[in-house]
Amino acid sequence: MVQIQGPGVYLQERKRMLTISKNELALRNGQDRPDIWIAFEGKIYDLGKSRLWKNGRHYEHWAGQDLTEELKKAPHTAKVFDKFKPIGYLK
Ligand code: HEM
Repeated sequence: MVQIQGPGVYLQERKRMLTISKNELALRNGQDRPDIWIAFEGKIYDLGKSRLWKNGRHYEHWAGQDLTEELKKAPHTAKVFDKFKPIGYLK
């Protein structure tokens, strides 16, 4: 759980986070680049360590995109993100 201790701490946290555009994210699909990143609810997650996202593919889905809407059709909830710390924000 993230604990926000004060506005200064929150700003520091944000500074270390990336802000990337949809086009930049599109290259991180595990094919064009080794990075396997996805956007979910405005945040960017690095799924490179997941064996379920090998080469950027997860069942019928590909990394490098905003998959917020697609999660609604998934057999699981957003709980699957609990063990991943976001690395940034989608512009
Ligand atoms: C056809 C649709 C999908 C299927 C069949 C599917 C299936 C699965 C299964 C079986 C797991 C294993 C853990 C669990 O069930 O709790 C999993 C994990 C996960 N899924 Fe999906 N999923 C789908 C769509 C999505 C979408 C759209 C996203 C992103 C928004 C997503 C993100 C994840 C993540 C982050 C994990 C955790 C990976 C890990 O712990 O290594 N899934 N999924």
